[in-house]
Amino acid sequence: MICDAIASAPDAQIGLPTGDTPIGTYAELARRERAGSLRVDRTTACAIDEFADVKRGTPGTNAAFFALHLPLAFRAVQVPGSNAPDPELEIASFAEGIRAAGGLELCVLGIGRNAHVAFNEPGSRLDSRARVVDLELVSREAHAGAFGGLARVPHRGMTLGIADILEARKLIVLVQGQSKARAVRDAIEGPESELVPASWLRAHAEVTWIVDRAAASMLSHK
Ligand code: GLP
Repeated sequence: MICDAIASAPDAQIGLPTGDTPIGTYAELARRERAGSLRVDRTTACAIDEFADVKRGTPGTNAAFFALHLPLAFRAVQVPGSNAPDPELEIASFAEGIRAAGGLELCVLGIGRNAHVAFNEPGSRLDSRARVVDLELVSREAHAGAFGGLARVPHRGMTLGIADILEARKLIVLVQGQSKARAVRDAIEGPESELVPASWLRAHAEVTWIVDRAAASMLSHK
């Protein structure tokens, strides 16, 4: 689906998540590029979130993640500056840049154990825009390994808002593992609520969830 989106709109921007989940997907995209069946040199990859208050490229940041796990010759890989002195301004102009260049053709997403999307933590509203957020402990813990200890994980993140994400023309949500089973069930079968940010994705007309058996295990309609 990612390859199809790029083939049909090669000059477009696509939003990409970080995390363990998409690593295999990115490796497969890189394999296809090497094999000559995928070209991304006109396509711009955009991060959907980043940590704040930390030097650019610090291991554990999204910029470091993409440098490591997205070995493709995109026209550009755009990531908000984690070292920005004014993160609120940084993420607002990042989102404005995406909009000014025509918006996201496709946004690939993951979800957190607390059903966050990008860094839209529980409490994020349907009409939320790009902003700085305080990260929940469970979200910081998920990144402790990459930063070399929980104490080194920043307390704040920058994220596209739910309303920004819903403006992408297509959404794909990748989820794997038992630890996400409750979040998947709540997002797909529970009430739409700011307590479950991923539940807002149901407002989108073209969203595809790709969920492994463990993450799907609590769904009542399989
Ligand atoms: C991170 C990112 C999200 C990502 C999620 C899932 O905190 N901010 O964009 O989707 O967590 O990560 P993982 O795939 O490692 O579970």
